[in-house]
Amino acid sequence: NSIPVITIDGPTASGKGTIAQHVAEALGWHVLDSGALYRLAALACLRAQVDPADQQQVAKQASNLDVRFDSAGIWMQGQNVSNDIRQEAVGNLASRIAAQPPLREALLARQRVFRQAPGLVADGRDMGTIVFPEAPLKIFLDADAASRAQRRCKQLKEKGFSAKIDELIADMEARDARDRSRSHAPLRAASDAHTIDSSHMGVEETVKAVLDLWSKTS
Ligand code: C5P
Repeated sequence: NSIPVITIDGPTASGKGTIAQHVAEALGWHVLDSGALYRLAALACLRAQVDPADQQQVAKQASNLDVRFDSAGIWMQGQNVSNDIRQEAVGNLASRIAAQPPLREALLARQRVFRQAPGLVADGRDMGTIVFPEAPLKIFLDADAASRAQRRCKQLKEKGFSAKIDELIADMEARDARDRSRSHAPLRAASDAHTIDSSHMGVEETVKAVLDLWSKTS
């Protein structure tokens, strides 16, 4: 597959989604928010009252997901769930079930379908290591816990959810620890990834850093 992919992996709330969107816009490429797929699977499990410990049933929900991504948002069974999937309860369940190999396997092909001409910017935890290991440019986007919690807090408030910084930090740390320690597709930088620490960088500066790397790659 010669369609180019830029992967952006990193911990919770490191700004991956925003940076991926801006980079994709600048290049005129498609974007994959892989975390949204894990969140959609979690939302489907909650709605169907699936026992999260039942790995086969969880994977089945993911295989049967009826979802659509368009400019108006993310749709599940014809309903706009863009805000629902951002709730902390959904994020927490997504983070727990994301450790399950059958679920990850069920979402693999679904993610690769997003690789369409003229190119794809994919953000997540394992984009550079597992889903698109041959991507010509891989970014590991990091930021310290305080800046990440502030970003997540702002994001939640904009969506009308309440948020407390202390709880967010504790939550984020638990989530990252789970992502880093799981045996299947753990969060880590690919050996050929470029690490960018965006703690003290604005969006524009970070986007430019990625685009500069891309112009040196291609
Ligand atoms: O990035 P986001 O917070 O939306 O992802 C929700 C959860 O899905 C994460 O906490 C992580 O555990 C999981 N995830 C994953 N692999 C990905 C993307 C997300 O395990 N590629």
